[in-house]
Amino acid sequence: MSKIGIFFGPLKGSVNRVADKVKLALGEQNVELISVNDASTSDLEKYDRIIFGISTVGKETWDSKYSNTDWSKFFPNISKVDFSGKTVAIFGLGDHITYSSYFVNAIGVLAKELLKKGATIVGKVDTSGYEFDDSESVIDGMFIGLPIDEDFEPELTDERVGNWVNSIKPAFGL
Ligand SMILES: Cc1cc2nc3c(=O)[nH]c(=O)nc-3n(C[C@H](O)[C@H](O)[C@H](O)COP(=O)(O)O)c2cc1C
Repeated sequence: MSKIGIFFGPLKGSVNRVADKVKLALGEQNVELISVNDASTSDLEKYDRIIFGISTVGKETWDSKYSNTDWSKFFPNISKVDFSGKTVAIFGLGDHITYSSYFVNAIGVLAKELLKKGATIVGKVDTSGYEFDDSESVIDGMFIGLPIDEDFEPELTDERVGNWVNSIKPAFGL
């Protein structure tokens, strides 16, 4: 079976650290880590099973054509790919204290684009384990991906990643 592609960005921060943990939890041999910095639409097309790792750093700093972050450059590729038949999951870094009204918004923005392009999104997460005021990533009462807060709840990361990876394994054929 071909590998699971974890497309993540930016490099060397919290997203990168959590991407490494997700890879370990899935089994290193099953996974290819791909920085969105180096990725193109043809890289996305190669994988039937994809995990995206993204952080929310203020909407205008990553989904605007004027911005210069890894994800802002990569994001337009999403709408150029047909995701039907692909199984996708998303984890997202955020800060539930400072940005309580925008908590992990990027997960939701990315998910909505993926759903438009036909993706099957797995790995929804109950909101009950989190404190926040509002989030674009809550769809039909659940987080559409896994929120991680390395700024204020780093002690919860390993358990959150472990539970989430176990929950998505069957959908990824593991
Ligand atoms: C300028 C700035 C804006 C941010 N905006 C948000 C936000 O809107 N929502 C949120 O949940 N976290 C927000 N954060 C917190 C980051 O998502 C968090 O620190 C994350 O761990 C960064 O991961 P990275 O270093 O891998 O990009 C923001 C952080 C910065 C520095």
